[in-house]
Amino acid sequence: MERDQLISKFRKLGGVIDPNDYGFVFFYPPFTWLETLREPLTPAFFSRVEDQEAAIYVHIPFCYHECSYCYFTKFSRNIDKIKAGYITHLKEDLKLYAKFLSNKKIKAIYFGGGTPSILAIDEVRQIQLTINSLFDTNQLQEITFECSPETLLVQKESIDFYLNRLKDDIGVTRISLGVQSFNDDILESILGRKHSADQAKQGIGAIKKANFRTFNIDLMYGFPQKDFKSAKDALKADLEVLDSLKLPSITFYQLWGKKDRDVVLNKPIWQLEEYDRPKPEEIINFRQLILQSMNDSGYNQWMRDWFIKEEKDKLLYNTFLFNSRTVIGTGLSAYGYLNISGDNGYAYLNHSGLEEYYKLIDNEKLPLNKVGTLKGPNRQLRNLILGFKREDGVEIDKEWIDTCSGDKLEKLTKGGFINKSVMNNKILIKLTEKGRLFADEICRLFFEPLQS
Ligand SMILES: C[S@@+](CC[C@H](N)C(=O)[O-])C[C@H]1O[C@@H](n2cnc3c(N)ncnc32)[C@H](O)[C@@H]1O
Ligand code: SF4
Repeated sequence: MERDQLISKFRKLGGVIDPNDYGFVFFYPPFTWLETLREPLTPAFFSRVEDQEAAIYVHIPFCYHECSYCYFTKFSRNIDKIKAGYITHLKEDLKLYAKFLSNKKIKAIYFGGGTPSILAIDEVRQIQLTINSLFDTNQLQEITFECSPETLLVQKESIDFYLNRLKDDIGVTRISLGVQSFNDDILESILGRKHSADQAKQGIGAIKKANFRTFNIDLMYGFPQKDFKSAKDALKADLEVLDSLKLPSITFYQLWGKKDRDVVLNKPIWQLEEYDRPKPEEIINFRQLILQSMNDSGYNQWMRDWFIKEEKDKLLYNTFLFNSRTVIGTGLSAYGYLNISGDNGYAYLNHSGLEEYYKLIDNEKLPLNKVGTLKGPNRQLRNLILGFKREDGVEIDKEWIDTCSGDKLEKLTKGGFINKSVMNNKILIKLTEKGRLFADEICRLFFEPLQS
């Protein structure tokens, strides 16, 4: 009953909990709002990037198979034929940025995908050496490398050898392993994964043994379900497994699939016979279960979906994303963000088709597809929206709040979803414990068309 009241209170404030159109908010403006880039960017533009520090994202668009729910850009066919050409272009992509941004101090690198662990060590080394030779990596603090259990387990030399080389030769400090669920039935029949729960545990064991500074596993919830009780039991069982594994960091993703993106390999995940999508009330119940269990197991909630044991388990790359700092996105479909002097933010999304990506790079042009400029107030709005996800909150100019989003913030504060504290002419805004249950939905409440 208490939960129903909370949901109804949130809805009265305009909040929408829609499992049909849920998106994990990590970027603003949403990609669908960006516009096609018309003029290539000039060196003068890049000379105005004001941040002295930056993070780099590197997209590796290869997987052994395509999971039925996944919205990332990836290929699962002819990988061996495509891989070498892709890496060559990726290195050129990095070079194009280095022409303008080689003086930035790179603090964090994130190899995401797709599945970076499909690469051989020599291929990873080539990319890392390219970055080291092009940018100032003297103050590099973190390299994250995404893996999937099945790609790790078939590494040519052995899983231990591969992980040790990543750590000792490449300098990887953090592994992120996609586990999704410890339930074999969910893994196989619903998600179309190509590994079992035991294989995921084997991967976790090897990652522990390799002794990285930290590592993370991704889990998902909110799957198509036969009934609420069995879905809840499955989540509880996953949480019990987690408790026994004693992991440093866990990320929970609510399964997302917009209708037009649901069909992957002709397998519509939300149309599985006898399965329904969870209702909003059930989703909130899942989030409460996760929160409770993670608290009981001694985790700190960091950024709503992330749970960590210690300070060292934080993802530095995330602080670039969620603090609106410069992120250089490279590779197919990668996104990036540049802070430009004169109070503008510049968000971009690369092409997701190989042909277009290669063509632009071969012509020495950045492979940007869509872009969005955030001027003055829009940049503040971006800070606010992404700042909602941060556990330390976000500081906003008092003057800006009064003119822009003050009313919504006031109502959320009165409703107990937000805490506001005034400090001189700044206001520190943080989600409350209640608010964190609705973090992405609160972010979405503040989405506003970009001003030109
Ligand atoms: C690039 S994948 C991780 C590495 C690797 N490819 C794997 O799947 O094991 C990043 C994560 O995004 C999450 N993800 C992918 N598709 C999703 C969806 N439709 N809804 C929610 N989370 C999703 C999964 O938890 C996945 O582990
Ligand atoms: S979830 Fe991971 S393994 Fe599955 S298709 Fe997406 S990127 Fe590939």
